[in-house]
Amino acid sequence: MWGIIATWRMALEGVTEAATQLAAGSGASASIVDAVAAVEDFPYYKSVGYGGLPTENGEVELDAAFMDGDTLAFGAVGNLIDIANPVRVAQALSRQRYNSLLVGQGAREWALEQGFAEKTMLTDRAMQHYRKRCRETLDKGLSPYDGHDTVGIIGLDKQGSMSVATSTSGLFMKKRGRIGDSPIMGSGFYCDSETGAATATGVGEDLMKGCTSYEIVRRMAGGMTPQQAADSVVFELEDKLMSRFGRAGDLSVVCMNRKGEFGAATNIKTFSFVVATEKQPLTVFRAERRAEKTHYQPVDDEWMQAYAARIRAPIEE
Ligand code: GLY
Repeated sequence: MWGIIATWRMALEGVTEAATQLAAGSGASASIVDAVAAVEDFPYYKSVGYGGLPTENGEVELDAAFMDGDTLAFGAVGNLIDIANPVRVAQALSRQRYNSLLVGQGAREWALEQGFAEKTMLTDRAMQHYRKRCRETLDKGLSPYDGHDTVGIIGLDKQGSMSVATSTSGLFMKKRGRIGDSPIMGSGFYCDSETGAATATGVGEDLMKGCTSYEIVRRMAGGMTPQQAADSVVFELEDKLMSRFGRAGDLSVVCMNRKGEFGAATNIKTFSFVVATEKQPLTVFRAERRAEKTHYQPVDDEWMQAYAARIRAPIEE
């Protein structure tokens, strides 16, 4: 059995290539890291990698992680500036015995020492978004922190190995130095090839309160299906946050077990995800919450076309 599942439609092109590789017998780690790197490289995705939106200081600070479910080795970077593919740095860090999670200047220095390419990650389009959002935030009283789209991809290869990787520019207008859930093992991602893996997207400060990804994997290990684990973790966390904290941000997850069965859950109106397995042809699903359950269905052509037009639409400043 092989399988791959990813947060958001933006992962489709990378997942398409990775699914072909996995079906041909490639390893999960290389396949998913390449798939995340493809999202990082695409300039129109404003929440990941090149073209990602900047912090309130106008800098693009990127977070990324990788975890190998066979060895439980992980690597992660936070607040990495102007390095082309943070996910590849994270994967390289996972091969180190120590210093697996590096942030800021230390992460950048290490990446440069290892020969990772420098690249200016701030684009003109991201600056246009930034100026527009600053104005809306002031004029209309909108919160810049409402939600966030992190790419997280889980792979299962024919050898039974699993891995997971994440990448994000983090919450738009975040403070310099702020880190969300995406590079934090157990919150933004977790993977154990003997059980399965999970990854999250949404408001990191809230996802971290539930150690969301670890909790999903723990529940799968306890016998829940991926869908039961995903729904129960997301909705219990939301209920807990509402009753004890008074608010809950966007919380969305995808997961897969070692048999290639998958699950997805969300507390928002529309959460898209991409999945392909030996049994499930490559599909973009649109998930929505109904009561305490997540329902999903394949998106149609109209949805795909509207998406393509939206991400490339000129930004009216
Ligand atoms: N989930 C991404 C972040 O909060 O930065």
